[in-house]
Amino acid sequence: DKGMHKHFMSKEIAEQPAVLGDAVKHYINTERNAVVLPDVDLDFSKISQITMVACGTAYLACNVAKYWFEQIAGIPVDLDVASEFRYREPPLRDNTLAVFVSQSGETADTLAALRYCNDNHAQTIGVVNVPESSIARESNASLQIHAGVEIGVASTKAFTCQLTVLMTMVIKAARQRGKLDADGEAALVSALLGLPSIINVALQAEHEIIDVANALSKFSDTLFLGRGALFPIALEGALKLKEISYIHAEGYASGELKHGPIALVDENMPIVVFAPKDALFDKTVSNMQEVMARRGKVILFTDDAGAQVASDGAWKVIKMPAVHAPLAPILYAIPAQLLAYHTAVAKGTDVDQPRNLAKSVTVE
Ligand code: M6R
Repeated sequence: DKGMHKHFMSKEIAEQPAVLGDAVKHYINTERNAVVLPDVDLDFSKISQITMVACGTAYLACNVAKYWFEQIAGIPVDLDVASEFRYREPPLRDNTLAVFVSQSGETADTLAALRYCNDNHAQTIGVVNVPESSIARESNASLQIHAGVEIGVASTKAFTCQLTVLMTMVIKAARQRGKLDADGEAALVSALLGLPSIINVALQAEHEIIDVANALSKFSDTLFLGRGALFPIALEGALKLKEISYIHAEGYASGELKHGPIALVDENMPIVVFAPKDALFDKTVSNMQEVMARRGKVILFTDDAGAQVASDGAWKVIKMPAVHAPLAPILYAIPAQLLAYHTAVAKGTDVDQPRNLAKSVTVE
């Protein structure tokens, strides 16, 4: 039932504050503001390497988690799309933890990659939305993302719930490895608990995003840029836009711009930038200026502090609420989804059932 929404995708975007709040409570002791992962009997201090494998949007969630595991927990992360991983058959180091992220839990390539890791004696964890799925059953342990049924082919609430659950794993790992003290843990946990209300604020930008989407729908190519853990959000924004609006979209790390893609930039190229005012902000601003000097049309998603210093020359600026820095990728996924959704609506495409795509890819 779509309720008052025109599409399941719109309903599922709007549900995120509620489902995220629910998801996080499954993995948190709210009295101590501490993470509890009851089903994962694992000592992260003994893990020397994490390998993450998934497809599509779930793979992009792994990309975000790589930044978190490395920066917060100090564990090196190797990651790959499942279709490459399974045939590459990489040698696995001792004490490897292999993590498989899949909304459906049935994606054929991801399942094959899991079986490879099981056969090669890695410890395996599935992060899934369907508890009785093949990936959940065949992993040594599984974590449910509690997003509720997702019907739209374009993954939205599953992505932010995947990120939320992965962040709880990161916190647990960082604690066990002595990279985070109890106060650090409590700060991250309370930021996670505060995320639903911050996302509610982000959702209120919808009307402004509709205006931007109407303008964007007239173009045939776009670039998406981000740095650090916002780089995967640029990739996700581009994936979302191409799959439902059929507009050609490419995501790049901002710093890669001058290594090729800037050659594409002219007045017919909107460039979507995700840039909260974080430690890397100034670098992204100088990339934006390079684009604007070539008449590229910048659509900037930033916070108040960022908008104050970087709005000049941008085509559109949409403000997001401030958020605890490590959680910015979860927050900025929201405008990425809304932008894709409303661009598709403006183009009149079949948002919930985009051409050529299936919700669950159970054949390779
Ligand atoms: O069920 P899974 O999470 O394993 O599915 C993976 C991808 O097929 C999926 O995320 C796909 O990329 C979505 N259509 C993206 O919106």
